[in-house]
Amino acid sequence: MCGIVGYCGKKIQLKKIIDKLKKLEYRGYDSAGITSIKNNTITTIKQVGKIDNLLSNIPGNLHTTCAISHTRWATHGKATHTNAHPHSSSKEQWTIVHNGIIENYQELYDKLKTKPASDTDTAILSQYLEENCNDNIESFITAFKNIKGSYAIVCINKNNNDSLYIAKKNSPLYISQAYGEIWVASDPISLPLEYDYLYEMLDNEFAYISDSNISFYDNNINIVDKKHININESFEETNLNKYPHFMIKEIEEEQSAIEKQIQFYKDKCILKEYNYDFIKNYENIKLIGCGTAYHAGLVGARFIEKLVGIKCTVEIASEYIYKEPILDTNKTLFIFISQSGETADTLRALEIVKSKGFNYISLTNVLYSSIARKSKHILPTIAGPEIAVASTKAFVCQLTTLYMFASHIHNVLEGTFIDYEKDLREVAKKILSFNKEKLDIIAKSIYQSPTAIFLGKDIDYIVAMEASLKLKEVSYINSTSYPSGELKHGFLALVEDGTPLIIFATGSDIQISKTLNATQESIARGAKEIIITNRYEYSKHNDNSIYIDSLNPLLAPILSIAPMQYLAYKVSILKGINPDQPRNLAKSVTVE
Ligand code: G6P
Repeated sequence: MCGIVGYCGKKIQLKKIIDKLKKLEYRGYDSAGITSIKNNTITTIKQVGKIDNLLSNIPGNLHTTCAISHTRWATHGKATHTNAHPHSSSKEQWTIVHNGIIENYQELYDKLKTKPASDTDTAILSQYLEENCNDNIESFITAFKNIKGSYAIVCINKNNNDSLYIAKKNSPLYISQAYGEIWVASDPISLPLEYDYLYEMLDNEFAYISDSNISFYDNNINIVDKKHININESFEETNLNKYPHFMIKEIEEEQSAIEKQIQFYKDKCILKEYNYDFIKNYENIKLIGCGTAYHAGLVGARFIEKLVGIKCTVEIASEYIYKEPILDTNKTLFIFISQSGETADTLRALEIVKSKGFNYISLTNVLYSSIARKSKHILPTIAGPEIAVASTKAFVCQLTTLYMFASHIHNVLEGTFIDYEKDLREVAKKILSFNKEKLDIIAKSIYQSPTAIFLGKDIDYIVAMEASLKLKEVSYINSTSYPSGELKHGFLALVEDGTPLIIFATGSDIQISKTLNATQESIARGAKEIIITNRYEYSKHNDNSIYIDSLNPLLAPILSIAPMQYLAYKVSILKGINPDQPRNLAKSVTVE
């Protein structure tokens, strides 16, 4: 789970390549490195930490005509200099950068005559290549017959200046070609804006770049006549503008993101294909995702069950992969949710579902992503690029999309009309109207707490899960979420004087009253109560309450999550953490 940028072409500054790599920092930021080759001499510069550390160690006058670079999210081996990519074999015949995991690394390691110093699977692969293949592409492809796992790999060979060797399986890789310049990258976002041709490497494909030419091969060394692709996406620069961090910028963009989302669906008639014939046979809908996308699925399932009456189940993708559910292919519809469209577990679950002949829809923010490319039916989210690791505006757009979808299906099946555009335009208007001053004070009162508890019932409990995840991700507070009735069955043991207890109270009167009752034992033991509610009576005289103006209980999650994203951001800042790049995490998890 990392980012790769490779280059072969006219002489350019090394720094220019690293500038492109910076756009992939969302894929990991434990270490970064670059290798260039000139006159059969390999030069590698690596640094632990973010790409800026590497950039500050590269003189502006260093130029190259061929280089590979990498930003790492540590999987095998700690985030050290030795484990940073690129990895050269002992005689420097091969230097490689890699995204993914070599699953049979131990078997390869055992066969090596020279054992690498690095703990990484990648270093083992580079040494394996040195000991098992010569310098030609045919031999390189043959060596991969013994490699198991997922990989996007770009290599430099010491005996071939101005050449790159490329292998790809289950990890994205793109190549752009313009006169005199070839770029390779894990995500087209980091390719130059102008190019003549763009190619997407497919699984089990290989490529050999030499000077200005690219040759593509399959895994039987047959030449592949590869067609270039078009990506209808403009990769405009994403700047902070007046904001100190992307996380707060992205929260502040939520109103316009919802509005754009509604307009896009209207203008493009996106929901039209989900007509009576499409939906009539389905008795079950399964929603699948990871992290925040899984939480969006949980809310979406409530939308569909309440508005349409089709039974929904929601699965964490990494768990679903290993289940053998008994489902009728004709009666079950799947919905995959993924902001990036690259999350490996979600992609794997999709492939399993596809291979079994189920129909499925993908809900994604990236229309050129692997998930989108494998899907006939797509529900796009129009959140725009989301840079901060913790998902905020993409989550809000996922809920918006799922509400539109559920309401549309209701309108198709029931014959009564839910004016979802109107409902959501009102939500958009209100989403940023929460009391920031109160939240600033609440943030100051909780940021030193080691733990925090988020509670709710039914749909409020799902928001509690997402709010807890947000706080955990960007503040490192050990936060947890519980259905309010479960609090007394264990968690009470951890409550101390001042432990924040964040309660969501937007459901029915009886649900709210039961939730508030359930918190009394904690409050009696010193817990600090904070309420997020749509009931004015609970909020008017309470400094620790946040009022959300939601008349429609189904849409309350969109309004109650926004202040919690803001609270998590504020706590992160008070703790001196960079909320855009919290420790250990990455935005797109492309390894299973
Ligand atoms: C990572 C990110 C989360 C995200 C999850 C699923 O854990 O840090 O913010 O929710 O992956 O990502 P996806 O791109 O599939 O929505």
